[in-house]
Amino acid sequence: MLGKPIRQLTDVNSILQKGIAASYSIFDFLDLQEEVDKGKTSVESIKGNIEWHSMSFKYPNAEKQTLNKITLSLPAGKTLALVGRSGSGKSTIANLIPRFYDIDDGLLSIDGISINDYKLTELRSNIALVNQQVVLFNGTIRDNIAYGYLQNTSDKEVIEAAKAANAWDFIQELDHGLDTMVGENGVLLSGGQRQRIAIARAILKNAPILILDEATSALDTESERAIQTALDGLMANRTTIAIAHRLSTIENADIIAVVDHGEIIEQGSHSELLAMNGAYAQLHNQQFSETPV
Ligand SMILES: Nc1ncnc2c1ncn2[C@@H]1O[C@H](COP(=O)(O)OP(=O)(O)OP(=O)(O)O)[C@@H](O)[C@H]1O
Ligand SMILES: [Mg+2]
Repeated sequence: MLGKPIRQLTDVNSILQKGIAASYSIFDFLDLQEEVDKGKTSVESIKGNIEWHSMSFKYPNAEKQTLNKITLSLPAGKTLALVGRSGSGKSTIANLIPRFYDIDDGLLSIDGISINDYKLTELRSNIALVNQQVVLFNGTIRDNIAYGYLQNTSDKEVIEAAKAANAWDFIQELDHGLDTMVGENGVLLSGGQRQRIAIARAILKNAPILILDEATSALDTESERAIQTALDGLMANRTTIAIAHRLSTIENADIIAVVDHGEIIEQGSHSELLAMNGAYAQLHNQQFSETPV
C-alpha cells in the first residue's frame, strides 16, 4: 500500500518546486526599485515645443559619455530627423524624452518646462513611441494595439488604426483575427508584423509628440510606402522625432540633425545639408550610389 502515496508525494514536490521558481521571479519583480517621479507639473495637453540645451547623458553602467552637449530646438508641429551611424546615440536621444533615463547635465524641456518637472504619467501620455525594439505583451492583438488607458477603445477604432498601419490585412487572415494571441513578446509574429502593430498603437494613441525609431526598418518597400503615407498624415501638425537609416524616408523633415559619437555635428534642412557637402551629403551619396533594391 505504500507505493502509491509515495509516488503522490513526488507529485507534490514538483508542484512545490514550480511554486518556488515562480515566487523567485515574482518577488524579484516586486523588489525592483520604483521609477523616481519628482515631477509635480500637471498639464492637460502638451503643445510639443521641444528644446535641448547643452544636454549630456551617460548610461549608468557605461564608461564613456553617451551624449555630449546636445543643443537642438524643435518647434511644435515640426519634424526632426536624427541620422547617423549605428551606435552614435540616436535612440538614446529619443528615449530620454519619455524619461526612460534621467539626463545628467543640461536641459531638456517641453513647452518651456523641464521634462523632470512633469508628472511621469502625464508626460508619457503625451508621447506616442514606436521603438526600435518593439515590445509586445503576451496577449491578443487587440490588447497590444489598445493597452493602458486605451483599453476600452471600440473595435471599430482599433480596426481603423490597424488599417492605417497597413496591419489589418494580415490580422484578418489570422485564425482569430484581433483575438489572436501573439505569444511571449510577440514571438508568433514576424518582425514587420510586430512593427505594424506598434505603429497601429501609436496611431490609436494620437498623442501630440510622436517618436518613430526605425519604425519601418523591418518592412519591404511596398509596405513601407503604404505606411509612410499614413505616417505622413500622422506627422502633419504633430511634433515628430524620426530616426531612420534609409534617408529617403526623412528627406522632408523640417530639421535633419546628424549625430556622431553622441554629438550633433550638422543640422539643417535636406537641401541645406546637401549644399554644405559635409557628413550628411556623404551619407546621402553613399545610399544613393548603391543600386536600389
Ligand atoms: N542600455 C544601455 N546601457 C549602456 N550603454 C548603452 C545602452 N544602450 C545603448 N548604449 C550605448 O550607447 C551608445 C548609443 O546607442 P544608441 O542606441 O543611442 O545608438 P543608435 O544611434 O540608436 O544606433 P542604431 O542606429 O544602431 O540604432 C552606443 O555606444 C551603445 O553601445
Ligand atoms: Mg537606435
